[in-house]
Amino acid sequence: MQDRVRGICERFDRDLRDARDAASLAAVRVRYLGRKEGLVTALLRDLRELSPAERAAAGKSVNELKTHVETGLEGAAALALPGTSGPGLPPLDLSLPGRVQRPGVPHPLNRVRALVEEIFLEMGFALESGPEIETDYYNFEALNIPPNHPARDSQDTFYVEGGLLLRTHTSPVQVRAMERRQPPLKVVAIGKVFRRDPFDATHSPMFHQIEGLVVGEGITFAHLKGTLEQFCRRVFDGGVRLRLRPSYFPFVEPGAEYDVSCIFCQGRGCGRCKGSGWIEMGGTGMVHPAVFEHVGYDPERYTGFAFGLGIERIAMLRYGIDDIRLFFDNDLRFLTQCPE
Ligand code: DAH
Repeated sequence: MQDRVRGICERFDRDLRDARDAASLAAVRVRYLGRKEGLVTALLRDLRELSPAERAAAGKSVNELKTHVETGLEGAAALALPGTSGPGLPPLDLSLPGRVQRPGVPHPLNRVRALVEEIFLEMGFALESGPEIETDYYNFEALNIPPNHPARDSQDTFYVEGGLLLRTHTSPVQVRAMERRQPPLKVVAIGKVFRRDPFDATHSPMFHQIEGLVVGEGITFAHLKGTLEQFCRRVFDGGVRLRLRPSYFPFVEPGAEYDVSCIFCQGRGCGRCKGSGWIEMGGTGMVHPAVFEHVGYDPERYTGFAFGLGIERIAMLRYGIDDIRLFFDNDLRFLTQCPE
């Protein structure tokens, strides 16, 4: 009896090793544990023929064999899961490195966008949005840029059938917001803008802008400066200073460009600020009365200020990125770096 048990055990081990798939595993189970013909079943049945003394010793080894067969079959079935080791697959190599599940991280531009939205919401602004495909009226005319105005030169864009164009700035949202609401109003709009620009380290035909607009009675240039200063201190660090330089944008009067003291050298002058100590941020000014007239606001009663700036520019400064194309290359080595 002991010899029969040993023989069946060896055969079972061989059969189990050779089982290639779930079907052959099932066949092995029937061959050994099948209710009628199973080899182990037959052994158990034959125990009855033995004398009580012989039965005790043989019974123990037959039961051990049965357990061995059952656990062997269970183990093989568990390993036969797709992609793991098991019958018909190479042996499971526990020394291989695991498959890393990398959690996604927000795109750097989305991170900056969320931060900017948070800052303006805290300052009491409402979020506005407008279409990326605009009419000439909203992108230019209502902003005091009539056809043939030289300001159009720097904002060449992509034209779509039906007189539509891809907006060159977020300023048209100012007009849409004023048409929808009555003063006082305090809104920001963030979104994509397009220009017929090259794709190089500092230009992209598509980028993102933030537009801000505040209109009410008694709004002054001091409100403009205070708001921008507050914003720049939140986005960079509390120590940055703001500088306004006279400039021209048709939809504001007076108009200005605004700079922050260089965040890399604290204004002492370095390669990043080209030795000037200042970094250009965007354009701003007091809303031009002609724009108020387009939306039916009384320019004698209301005043307001507006400003624009680029999300990529803030992200490049905050994270020390020197090539705008990195944002759009979809290179995971860049995108998965999470500086904060
Ligand atoms: N729209 C301008 C541009 O893209 C930026 C700008 C300048 C926005 C002055 C403003 C502003 O709101 O007042 O070049």
